[in-house]
Amino acid sequence: MRHWTIQRLDDDLAQLTLDRVDASTNTLSAQVLGELNEALDELDRQPPKGLIIASGKANGFIAGADVAEFRDVHDEAGALAIVRRGWDTFNRLADVRYPTVALIRGFCLGGGLELALACRYRVVVDEPGTRLGLPEVMLGIVPAWGGMRRLPRLIGAPAAFDLLLSGRAIDARRAKKLGLADECVPARIMDNTARGILKSLPAPRKLPFPLSLTLLPLARPLLAAQARKQVAKRARREHYPAPYAILELWVKYDGDALAAPSTDPASVPALLRTPTAANLIRVFGLQERLKALGKTGDFKAKHVHVIGAGTMGGDIAAWCALRGLTVTLQDQDAARLAPAMTRASELFASRLKDARRIRDARDRLIPDVAGRGVARADVIIEAIFENLDAKRALFAAVEAKARPDAVLATNTSSIPLEDIAAGMREPSRLIGVHFFNPVAKMMLVEIVVGKATRDDLVPEAAAFVGQIDKLPLPVKSAPGFLVNRVLAPYLGAAMQCLDEGIAPEAIDEAALSFGMPMGPVELADTVGLDICAAVGTMLAPGRAPSGRLAELLAAGHLGRKTGRGFYEWVGGKPVKKPAGSIPPGLADRLIAPFIAEARAALSEGIVADADLVDAGAIFGTGFAPFTGGPLHYAAAAAR
Ligand code: NAI
Repeated sequence: MRHWTIQRLDDDLAQLTLDRVDASTNTLSAQVLGELNEALDELDRQPPKGLIIASGKANGFIAGADVAEFRDVHDEAGALAIVRRGWDTFNRLADVRYPTVALIRGFCLGGGLELALACRYRVVVDEPGTRLGLPEVMLGIVPAWGGMRRLPRLIGAPAAFDLLLSGRAIDARRAKKLGLADECVPARIMDNTARGILKSLPAPRKLPFPLSLTLLPLARPLLAAQARKQVAKRARREHYPAPYAILELWVKYDGDALAAPSTDPASVPALLRTPTAANLIRVFGLQERLKALGKTGDFKAKHVHVIGAGTMGGDIAAWCALRGLTVTLQDQDAARLAPAMTRASELFASRLKDARRIRDARDRLIPDVAGRGVARADVIIEAIFENLDAKRALFAAVEAKARPDAVLATNTSSIPLEDIAAGMREPSRLIGVHFFNPVAKMMLVEIVVGKATRDDLVPEAAAFVGQIDKLPLPVKSAPGFLVNRVLAPYLGAAMQCLDEGIAPEAIDEAALSFGMPMGPVELADTVGLDICAAVGTMLAPGRAPSGRLAELLAAGHLGRKTGRGFYEWVGGKPVKKPAGSIPPGLADRLIAPFIAEARAALSEGIVADADLVDAGAIFGTGFAPFTGGPLHYAAAAAR
C-alpha cells in the first residue's frame, strides 16, 4: 500500500493512517479507496481489538473525494461507479467486527466525514482548524457515500439537514454538542483518548427520544417538506437541484442514492444530466485556482497597518485581526476609530464565540492614531477618502517611514495607481488591494497592478490575501478594474429599465430568476446610490447620472444607508411589492451588457484569461454560480 499504513499498537489495537503519497492533502481517490479495501482485508486476516483511523498529514484529516476524478465522468455508468465505490467501502467499514474510531484533527469534509461516520466512534481535536461538513451540495452533487443515511441517524434529521443542505462546516465543539463527535479534546491527549475509547467501549450514543422520532417513516415527508421550503428561500430547484434531491433520497430511499432509478429526478444520473453539477465543479476549480495564486512564494505577513478606519479600512483591519494578524489601525483621531473598534468586536463575537479567542482577537487590533505601526508593518493598506491629493501626500509620508520590504497597498476604487504613486520616491512600490463591501462576506480581492508596479509585489500581495483566507485576482490598473467594470453596465441597464417605467420589483425578479443572488435595483440601493453614480461617472466620464437616479441623488436618498433609494428600507430590508408579470426578455436585457463587458475586459487584458474573468464575476459580483460564469454561460448558450 502506498497511501495507507497499518500499525499494530499495544493491547492488540491497530492504527490505519492515510497519508496520500502524491498530494499535499488527503483526498479519497479511486486508488485510496481501493487501498482502504486492501487494508481492511489485511485487518480481517488478523483482526485487532480496535482500530484507530487517522491522518498522516499535518494540514487535516480528509478533504473529501478527489474532485479531479469527477471531471473525467462522462456517462451514467461512470457516475454510478464512483457512488458505488465509496458506498460499498464505507458499508464494509461500518460492518467490521472490531470497534473503530476516527481521530479527526483539521478538516474532515465530504467523503472524509462519510468515512468518519462509518466508524463506530469519532474523536475531534479542539482546534480552530478542525472543521466537519458535507459540502457536496455546493458542487451540485449529493453525499452518496453514506452521509445522507448515517448523519440523520446520528444527530437527528433537523441538525443533519442543516449540514447536508447548506454544505457548511462546523467546529469541533459544535460537533461534540450535536453528538457527531463522541469526544472533543486538546491535541496532546487525542491519541490516548482514541485508545481509551477502544479499551472502555462506551455504549455508542443513542439519539434522544424526540430526535429519534424525526427518523420515523411517517415523519420524514413532513420534515422534508418543511426543509424544502427553507431551501427554496435560498436556491431555486431549476438552478440548484441537489439540496432537493438530498431530501427526496432521504425520504424515499433512506439516503441510498444507488436505490433511485435513473428516471427519478433525484437520482445521481439525473443530477448529472443538468449542467449545474459540472458548472459548480468548474467553479470549485476556479476557486482552487485563485487560492493557489495566494500560495505562491513564501511571503508571510505578521503585522498589517491600515490607514483610514471608515467603512472599508475599519472592516479590513477587523478581518485581518480575526485571521490572526497583528493590526494597527490609524485614523485622524480616536473618535473616528471608535466605531470601527465596535464593529470589530461584533465581528469577533459572532465568528469566534469562545471568550478567550475573542479577547485574543481584540488584543491583536490596536488603535494607532499616531501611526506608529507604519514603521513596523509587513503590509500597509491605505483606505482613506477617495481623494487624490490626500492619498498622494499620505503615500509620500508612508514611504519615508515604512520598512523597505513592506508591501504598500491602496484600496482605491477609482483613482489610477499611477497618479497616487506619482509623489513617491519609488512609484514601483505601490500596488492595489481592492476589497469589496461588506469585507467579511466578499471573498474576492482584486490585486491591482499599475504600469509601474514591481512584478515581485504581485505574488506578495496575493500571498497576503491568501493568508487572510480571501481569493486574490490580479487585475490591470484600468477604470473599474474587473468587478466594478462588469457590474456597471448591468446596473446601468437596470436604471434604464426603471426610467422606462418597469417596476423595480419586476427588474429584480427577472435577475433572480436568471440566478443572480440579488436583483440589480436592490444591489444599487445596498451599495449606495452615491457610490454607484461615482463608479458610473468614472467609467463614462462626462456622463452625469440621469433619470430616477439623478432625482434620488438630488433628494439625498442614497439607498439602504439613508432609509430610502429606489426602495424604502425598513429594518435593513427593502419594502417590495409583488413583482407582477415580468416583461419577456427582461433578464436578457440585464445580463447581456454584463457579458459584453466581460468580453471587453478579457480582450483588453484586464485579467489574464477567460476563466479568471468568470472567477472574478462569480466571487466578486455573485454572478449565478450554477452557470459557471458569464463567459462560460455565453459560450454554452451559443452552442
Ligand atoms: P470612508 O469615508 O468610510 O472612510 C475614510 C476614513 O479615512 C475616514 O474615517 C477618515 O477619517 C479617514 N481618513 C481620511 N484621511 C485620512 C488621513 N490622512 N489619515 C488617516 N485617516 C484618514 O471611506 P470608505 O468608503 O471606507 O472608502 C475608503 C477607500 O476605500 C476609498 O479609496 C474607496 O474608494 C475605497 N473603497 C470603498 C468601497 C466602498 O464600498 N465604500 C469599496 C472598495 C473600495
